[in-house]
Amino acid sequence: MNAPIKVAVTGAAGNIGYALLFRIASGDCFGKDQPVILQLLEIPPAMTALAGVVMELNDAAFPLLHGIVTSDDPNVAFAGAQQIFLVGSRPRGPGMQRADLVAANGPIFVGQGKAINDNAAPDVRVVVVGNPCNTNALIAMNSAPDVPRERFTAMTRLDQNRAVSQLAGRLGVTAGAVSRMVIWGNHGPSMYPDFHQATVNGKAVADLVDHDWLTGDFASTVKGRGGAIIKARGQSSAASAAGAAIDHMATWFNGTAEGEWASMAVPSNGEYGVPKGLIFSFPVTIKDGVYTIVKGLKINAFSQAQIDNTVAELVAERDAVKDLIG
Ligand code: NAD
Ligand code: LMR
Repeated sequence: MNAPIKVAVTGAAGNIGYALLFRIASGDCFGKDQPVILQLLEIPPAMTALAGVVMELNDAAFPLLHGIVTSDDPNVAFAGAQQIFLVGSRPRGPGMQRADLVAANGPIFVGQGKAINDNAAPDVRVVVVGNPCNTNALIAMNSAPDVPRERFTAMTRLDQNRAVSQLAGRLGVTAGAVSRMVIWGNHGPSMYPDFHQATVNGKAVADLVDHDWLTGDFASTVKGRGGAIIKARGQSSAASAAGAAIDHMATWFNGTAEGEWASMAVPSNGEYGVPKGLIFSFPVTIKDGVYTIVKGLKINAFSQAQIDNTVAELVAERDAVKDLIG
């Protein structure tokens, strides 16, 4: 058995938290031989609800769960943390865009970025789930000058999973048959689900599926899925979001399978003409806990226009939070 790792989760009493914690504690994320200590952050009004979640975690008697810390102080919750899920923040309601949340949620990531800077472990890795997640990750990264920038990422894995599921459904296969489905850019309406590299059972999707569907219903379903779920459920996706956060961190921890890519929003170094520093979703491969952006992909004019569009949305979000990123 390995030594326990410290895993911090914010918004731990919320909807995503409730779906996420039990999977981390059961070994779904870091492996069945990797003990964990959970360090859970909430705001004071939610501490009673969090105490109930802790009772349930204890009652589940997970052999890998070596301890639980709860706090409303990020300096405590992030102390020595190696893996951090930044979930805690307001979700949008019907009729809102994710970017509308930045005024309420952006400031949270200033304080939490600083607390990560001051308290987390040297090998810390962070995924931001709270929306607008790319820009919140940008804020947290800029508030943590001593942490290597590449440790701050945001989640577009849910968009990747949604796209994989749509392709699988269309072709009558299971999700496991789909590879290299890429999401570029923002977890926002401008995201670009790029089918050009995707394969199903090794065959190019572009040769298997009607092009009009790929650029039409497929793209709009993936981009609009978050809103469709809010309309149907009255609240935003939770179990699928938690599952995608598990996938994101599990892939970062364990690496990508041979020949496979994952989409992660990571700080740009100027790849594919994306402005340096933007938190932008790229295809990556991962080995030994280090991700590498897939280079050299041929980008046609259609894809370039989509990438330019999502860059523009992220630049506008960045400009809107310039007071928070110094
Ligand atoms: P929720 O309202 O059910 O839970 C949020 C929790 O965060 C609450 O318990 C709240 O008390 C807590 N919280 C608020 N401010 C906090 C702070 N400063 N520190 C710690 N905790 C704090 O919401 P949810 O459904 O769990 O969604 C959480 C966030 O995740 C939302 O912003 C939502 O839009 C986002 N989300 C992102 C994706 C994605 O793909 N990136 C998917 C689904 C949801
Ligand atoms: C999602 O994609 O389900 C989340 O980002 C929630 C939302 O606001 O759409």
